[in-house]
Amino acid sequence: MAIREIRKQGDEILSKNCRTVEKIDDRIIELGNDMLETMYKNDGIGLAACQVGILKRIIVYDVKYIEEDGKKEGHILINPKIVSRSKSMIEVEEGCLSFPDIYKVVKRHEKVTVEYTDIKGKKKRITAKDIEAVCLQHELDHLDGVVFLDRYEEQN
Ligand code: NI
Repeated sequence: MAIREIRKQGDEILSKNCRTVEKIDDRIIELGNDMLETMYKNDGIGLAACQVGILKRIIVYDVKYIEEDGKKEGHILINPKIVSRSKSMIEVEEGCLSFPDIYKVVKRHEKVTVEYTDIKGKKKRITAKDIEAVCLQHELDHLDGVVFLDRYEEQN
């Protein structure tokens, strides 16, 4: 595994659309593991592939690492897609590893269900709420070239 360089604010790759992963091979698995390692190293709770310069629809996240102090339970989601959203919304202050020292309160759905493929090629589904739901919406936005500041500006 290796730590990858995180692309920062102003890098045009952050506003590009990521492409669907067609085949899960060793390079994809390595990328997912590197993304997790890079996220932990930078004290993040989520990271999208475009943030390490790769335009593929892959995200990683682990919201429990911070909450439960040190127990790693990282998820690698390939081709994730939101399939349902709650009507109720929550507002949470968000940050992003690509935007150091910027924090903004963004309104998101309180609950979302996401379908994805895992690194073994199995179709899976997660229903998440609160901070986990916020994190998933933030990371999935990255795959469409949307960052939390765009959401903040839309809402303010
Ligand atoms: Ni981000």
